Amino acid sequence: MKRDSFGSRFGALVALAGSAVGLGNLWRFPYLVGENGGAAFIIVYILLSFLICLPIFISEFVVGRRSQRNAYSSFRDLSGGTWWKYVGVMTIIVPLIVTSYYSVIGGWSVQYLLKSLTFSFTIGETQSQMSSMFSEYVSSPWLPLIGHTIFLGISVLVVGAGIKGGIEKFSKIMMPLLFVIVLGIAIYSMLLPGASEGLDYLFKPDFSKLTAKSCAAALGQAFFSLSIGFGTIMTYASYVDKKENILFQSTATAVSDLAFALIAGMAIMPAVFAFGLDPQSGPGLVFETLPFVFSQMPAGGAVAILFFLALLVAAITSSISMVEVGVAYLVEEKGLSRFWACLIVFCLCWSAGTLCSLSFGPLSDLKIFDMTIFDFLDYTSSNVLMTLGSLLTVLFVGWRLKKTDIYDEFTNGGSLRLNVRIFGVLWFLIRYIAPVAVLMIFIFGIIG
Ligand code: ALA
Repeated sequence: MKRDSFGSRFGALVALAGSAVGLGNLWRFPYLVGENGGAAFIIVYILLSFLICLPIFISEFVVGRRSQRNAYSSFRDLSGGTWWKYVGVMTIIVPLIVTSYYSVIGGWSVQYLLKSLTFSFTIGETQSQMSSMFSEYVSSPWLPLIGHTIFLGISVLVVGAGIKGGIEKFSKIMMPLLFVIVLGIAIYSMLLPGASEGLDYLFKPDFSKLTAKSCAAALGQAFFSLSIGFGTIMTYASYVDKKENILFQSTATAVSDLAFALIAGMAIMPAVFAFGLDPQSGPGLVFETLPFVFSQMPAGGAVAILFFLALLVAAITSSISMVEVGVAYLVEEKGLSRFWACLIVFCLCWSAGTLCSLSFGPLSDLKIFDMTIFDFLDYTSSNVLMTLGSLLTVLFVGWRLKKTDIYDEFTNGGSLRLNVRIFGVLWFLIRYIAPVAVLMIFIFGIIG
């Protein structure tokens, strides 16, 4: 049977961008920028994204497109069946873990979208009331599970509809919509009185805040944001046509991811500062501070609906890319139909996600290395497994595969002039610079 694939250049691009643009852009990037020196951090982030992360992204792309197989088989086949296949196993397991807890947060966005549709963020409520509303919600046993089930269900349904008919179609509609919504909120937010303080927080360069730790944070964020180190890019790349230009697709994804993160910052921070609030990161920012901001701003009810819709769309397009990794493996390696593969991935992620969800309530006392189940899975996957995955992938491409094969794949058999010209630099970055940089971050990430 012919393998499914993306039907167009634009389709592949929006799917890749959809995988990259997610919660990482909306709730971590703006805060990291503000905390670590504004524009100074952005400069470091851009340098690291393009000098370290882009070569790793391209490495994953090359592996996936060369083999035209799922992530596990790519490692196994291209290495001639050696132990590298175990790296392939890891790239199948990590996205399943990430999907599990990502889907819990996705479920919160479903719930908050519903809350905003019923105009639940009412004027007169204080910020601490919003915070208690959030803690009551996440610690209740059932309600978050409903959100988690709906979110994971939608992700799996999209994947179940196939690459062209599901993932590509969904991304083609949702990604432009997402972009327009967040751009609209950014413009509105920047027009609020007092918004300039938020822009200062984001963009005023303060080089004194740049430390080795903030550089490590920048690189860690770039990995997560570009979805590298856990099989997603490799899997998507395996559905990209051989005629496409890997350099173009990869750079365009990295640029859109960065642009979206910056626009998200401009949508969120000016509004937060306009109401004299302190920015936070993660759930605190999105589910506590922002609902309060929405309850205070003119037309806040409509902005809340648009914002939570954007959050949901950003999270789903990332989640489908992670679900696809496991589904592709089960279909190609285990011979299952797409339906059964989707059902198995749903059951696995739903079960693990349920434990994550309950770890905010009934299971909050259950600790692994002093962390709740949710924190443990988030920590090990973001700080250890993704970084390890990126390191091993870049070593695989730089030291195990043949340089001529990489050249051939990257330049489409020598036919792409610019790619031919920059191949030497790319090869140097893949072989020497990226592994050393990733190793440093890995050590930083572990020793804290
Ligand atoms: N790249 C995805 C995100 O940023 C996982 O959320």
